[in-house]
Amino acid sequence: MAKIIIGITSSIAIYKTLDLVSRLRKDGHPVFCLLTRHAQKMISQQTFNAVSGTNTDSSMFNRKTPGLFPHLDIAKEADLFAVIPATANIIGKLACGLADDMLTTTALAVSCQKILAPAMNSAMWHNYIVRANISRLKEFGYTIIEPDDGMLACGDHGQGRLKDISIIYEIIISFCRSRLVKSKNSIYPAIAGKRVLITAGGSIEMIDPVRFIGNSSSGKMGRELALEASAAGCIVHYYYGNISSEIPPAEHSEHFTTAEDLFNRLVKIIDSIDILIMAAAVADFKPAVCEESKIKKSERFNLPLISTIDVLKSLKKRSGQIFAGFAAETGSFKNNALKKCREKNCDLIIMNPVGGAAGIGSDYNEVTVFEPDGRESASGVKPKNEIAKFIMEKINEKAKQIF
Ligand code: CTP
Repeated sequence: MAKIIIGITSSIAIYKTLDLVSRLRKDGHPVFCLLTRHAQKMISQQTFNAVSGTNTDSSMFNRKTPGLFPHLDIAKEADLFAVIPATANIIGKLACGLADDMLTTTALAVSCQKILAPAMNSAMWHNYIVRANISRLKEFGYTIIEPDDGMLACGDHGQGRLKDISIIYEIIISFCRSRLVKSKNSIYPAIAGKRVLITAGGSIEMIDPVRFIGNSSSGKMGRELALEASAAGCIVHYYYGNISSEIPPAEHSEHFTTAEDLFNRLVKIIDSIDILIMAAAVADFKPAVCEESKIKKSERFNLPLISTIDVLKSLKKRSGQIFAGFAAETGSFKNNALKKCREKNCDLIIMNPVGGAAGIGSDYNEVTVFEPDGRESASGVKPKNEIAKFIMEKINEKAKQIF
């Protein structure tokens, strides 16, 4: 079972965390609830301890439990650190590395995955200081469970409601599974515990300060692959471009903009990765020049384009790595897919036909997985989560030969 630290701060959504703690306890996870001083004005430590079944002490001094370095003891053992709900105050403190109570000192001491589920008034959530702090925390590896839109406790409408507690529960469980799945228990034993990097969504190439070349990729396929990889016990790195789907829980996630930006980010990490899955829809062209000022409207306008870097082709693959590319095709499917597989140094190429009900933006997809020697297997039209299972099975088969 996973040892989970839940930091609790003084948002009105605090009562929902009790339900979450109760569910995690019923699943058998030891849960340690660290409350800030203000949170304890709303619900007591004793209530959380009673619900979690653990005797946690959130004070730094005059503690009832023994131990000289309690924030370090609890941090060393944790499999997951989550702050639910997270106020603007804790977000600011964590983004700055402040450490003036048990929760913040523990946050700095843990080396496990960290999650934040913010809840606050929408004006506060959209405040540029909070936005900047959230961006910093993402860079520091925090997974942010974005608040929902709706009616807020203060009567305002907008984004700021704590994400539905069932969804938060699912996310936490998926993290716990990825931490705890041992090779022999994994659905995909050959890839359990491996580092998998998944790219998703579309790249953008700026034309001028307000316009860009992009595409309609939603990131849904990449998200499903990330969820499946986590469930298999992989350590997931998620690099996402322009997306209209939620960022899945991952060990580490990063946002990319252009093809070149993606390439520069991947180069830094690729050697430490076991499996690369390039589901991102990378734009093939970019404007020869990105204008500094907004281009004025005119009757005719020519936009000279040049090629972007081919990210997958340009990455140096070390021995013992698996590269899986995608191929979006409208014709000569097999020939084109196999050509891409060879040229981009891939062990597998996942071809999806463009057009029809399945594919880009849809909840469904249909893929054929090709290997460099021409072997192929087709999935049929399925929801993207089932397609993700199909792809992961093929990668697991490949992993048996390579790892
Ligand atoms: N890809 C990439 N860099 C690019 C374009 C594509 O890394 N500049 C990756 C995609 O993420 C995908 C694979 O290469 O995994 C194939 O992408 P696809 O768009 O199907 O093919 P292209 O190489 O762009 O060729 P074409 O558009 O001519 O079919």
